[in-house]
Amino acid sequence: MYGWAVGDMAGLFPRPRAVVAPGAVHVPEWLPVERQRALVEVCREWARGPVPLRHTVLPGGGVMSVQTVCVGWHWQPYRYSRTADDVNGARVADFPDWLAELGRAALVEAYGEESPVGTYAPDTALINFYDGAARMGMHQDKEERSGAPVVSLSIGDTCVFRFGNTENRGRPYTDVELASGDLFVFGGESRFAFHGVPKVCPGTADPATGMSRGRLNLTLRETGWGV
Ligand code: SIN
Ligand code: MN
Repeated sequence: MYGWAVGDMAGLFPRPRAVVAPGAVHVPEWLPVERQRALVEVCREWARGPVPLRHTVLPGGGVMSVQTVCVGWHWQPYRYSRTADDVNGARVADFPDWLAELGRAALVEAYGEESPVGTYAPDTALINFYDGAARMGMHQDKEERSGAPVVSLSIGDTCVFRFGNTENRGRPYTDVELASGDLFVFGGESRFAFHGVPKVCPGTADPATGMSRGRLNLTLRETGWGV
């Protein structure tokens, strides 16, 4: 028993799907491993350019511990643009149709067919890479003009995802373990809830996903910023 990594226990204890808050749904193991591997490959390509994966520098001079690359629209604190003016000035890669399709499928999975999935048109993906030491502080996703849900996909190492309230960074919040293949959608009353990643659990990734270490997270969003 001693020395077992959390990953060794995967599958022994099925993790149930959960509504964490109104409009916030966690669906464990939604992405099959082949799909995760394909996503990792395409993210590796996007990480090379036209805008490379890098640590975002905050206006106060702080540097985020996660590394980020964007597709469709470039996010920099605290706005969206087509070109990565805080990196190399290049226009970000186009947001592919298949990724919007995946976002719509995620919405159907989370909310069912009655959800306004027909009109859901995510046009940006923020792709974050976490090494074992990376964290993300509590924040809201609020640079979007659209109130459409955010779709979050996790691959690689398991993390603790803290999902809070819409008022402040503190309690009440719920800590959820997001493992490889998990889907988390937050929309409706929870769309502007504070959330963050206080901890990544190194060594929990299954190398079959294409991630031998670290955690990859994609959030698909509708910017509402037009063409
Ligand atoms: C984010 O809040 O944009 C990323 C969340 C995550 O890494 O799970
Ligand atoms: Mn966020």
